[in-house]
Amino acid sequence: MTDKKIIAVAGATGAQGGGLARAILADAQGGFAVRALTRDPDSEKAKALARLGAEVVKADIGDADSLARAYEGAHGAFCVTFFWDHFSPDREFAEARAMASAAKRANVRHVVWSTLEDTRKWVPLSDSRMPTLQGKYKVPHFDSKAEADRIFTELGVPTTFLLTSFYWENFIYFGMGPKKGADGKLAITLPMGDRKLPGIAAEDIGRCAYGIFKQGPSQAGKTVGISGEHLSGEEMAREFTLALQQDVRYNEVSPETYRGFGFPGAEDLGNMFQVKRDFNDDFRRARRPEDARALNPALLTFRQWLSANKARIPLE
Ligand SMILES: NC(=O)c1ccc[n+]([C@@H]2O[C@H](COP(=O)([O-])OP(=O)(O)OC[C@H]3O[C@@H](n4cnc5c(N)ncnc54)[C@H](OP(=O)(O)O)[C@@H]3O)[C@@H](O)[C@H]2O)c1
Repeated sequence: MTDKKIIAVAGATGAQGGGLARAILADAQGGFAVRALTRDPDSEKAKALARLGAEVVKADIGDADSLARAYEGAHGAFCVTFFWDHFSPDREFAEARAMASAAKRANVRHVVWSTLEDTRKWVPLSDSRMPTLQGKYKVPHFDSKAEADRIFTELGVPTTFLLTSFYWENFIYFGMGPKKGADGKLAITLPMGDRKLPGIAAEDIGRCAYGIFKQGPSQAGKTVGISGEHLSGEEMAREFTLALQQDVRYNEVSPETYRGFGFPGAEDLGNMFQVKRDFNDDFRRARRPEDARALNPALLTFRQWLSANKARIPLE
């Protein structure tokens, strides 16, 4: 048994939870231990965490009994949901509620819940500037997370609400990397106009969450927004050009065009970028890099992230 404070980490084999797990495990004197939740303890990623010193437990967020076991004796819990696995706001909400309920029953002292804003505070459903999606959302993967905030509050779970930012890894995994246009030149395509997009290295989200756990339960009730840097499309294109040693342009499109791209989630993302563009000051003010750096002094800039990751960006 450990006398360290156990943090039960959802999504430990993924981006956000993985960053948190590795941050805790890298800090042997930090006083915290990782309990990594996974549906498959035999996967390579789960075994890698075990080798680093994590306690790996089999848990499915959709299975209340497994969640109850996973939270037993835990000091803290990192809660994150997996919208892009299923595209269902209802499921996302139910999974957040399951984690909040399990944390309450296990008397967990401090939860960090990875959430996003309710975009309907800026664009009510009646607003025709962007389509309403799935009946009652403007940006489903934002709005359903925000709706789940109140479950943590109503249940009296001591929760810090972590507002995350666009992962720069989307340029590797989400099909958003530079692509060749009709002119044969590489371009990144975003509907952000000349506004700046707060972005972050996914690993830094977990490192910031660790900073919040270190500050402790006194942070419960607070909303903490994080990002690595705020950059316009032009600025990101310039950084790509430098890193890749070939011209990369910013291909500015309208949100309508982006919504029409037809890939799964294009409408959700088109609305998301429109909110980030049209309510840019509010959106940026809520996720200041200096706040993230105070939690995580190793916070990467886009240039540093690109320099470490450029070889992983698929180019045609
Ligand atoms: N992409 C972005 O720019 C961005 C920005 C901000 C927020 N987000 C949000 O980030 C969330 C996803 O987080 P992520 O990127 O860290 O996820 P991820 O990298 O896709 O990892 C998800 C991990 O969660 C586990 N998992 C999935 N379903 C599970 C279940 N039912 N029970 C237990 N574990 C389950 C999987 O592990 P096992 O297979 O080992 O069980 C998987 O490795 C999404 O909701 C998204 O909206 C994304």
